[in-house]
Amino acid sequence: NIPVIAVDGPSGVGKGTLCQALANHFNWHLLDSGAIYRVLALAALKQNIALDDIIQLTVLALNLPLTFDSSHGDVKVLLAGVDVSKEIRTEQTGGAASEVAAINEVRTALLQRQRDFRQLPGLIADGRDMGTVVFSDAPVKIFLDASAQSRAERRMKQLQDKQIHAKFPEILQEITARDERDRNRAVAPLKPAVDALIIDTTSLSIEDVFNQAIMYIKE
Ligand code: CDP
Repeated sequence: NIPVIAVDGPSGVGKGTLCQALANHFNWHLLDSGAIYRVLALAALKQNIALDDIIQLTVLALNLPLTFDSSHGDVKVLLAGVDVSKEIRTEQTGGAASEVAAINEVRTALLQRQRDFRQLPGLIADGRDMGTVVFSDAPVKIFLDASAQSRAERRMKQLQDKQIHAKFPEILQEITARDERDRNRAVAPLKPAVDALIIDTTSLSIEDVFNQAIMYIKE
């Protein structure tokens, strides 16, 4: 059985950073499941598919021409061969992603695509339902949490680094609204798996979180 470390949590909590560090440390594969939902939402917006059109979104999810290219260091996200890595990171696309992610049929359509990332020597899986649904048999599950204020601050910094313009009050409001939706949806709601280690990262540095995770994994 190929090992998986499932890392879940709300927006801006540092999952992406932790998962990248773990993937580098163990030299394992990395699944950024949020990027799949973001690309699906972007593709829907480009094709003028309404974000509540279950049938068209499900067909799109089943046929989504999405690839990850990690051959040049940084992971590039390609939609039909076009680099959309920057475009998918806007909070507008994040919001649209959480709308399509609330549809059960869409989630089912994307299940196998995510599970296919489970390859030797192992996988670090980043998302909302990695430990509860997609890899519910994962031997290690970590759930990161943090205050909305600190998550919005981190997200601001991340967007600035990517030179994506953003205003703090809007980011705070948008990620709070998105988390509400992710936590309260009927399918695969954002919540820790019963057997997950919960780490509150509000007052922890990236190194602190990494060290706690490594200690737990090695137990
Ligand atoms: O980067 P951030 O943590 O803000 O978001 P993301 O991980 O890229 O995910 C964007 C949206 O996709 C989330 O708000 C969720 O609604 C949805 N998502 C999901 O439903 N299940 C996943 N496994 C990953 C993301």
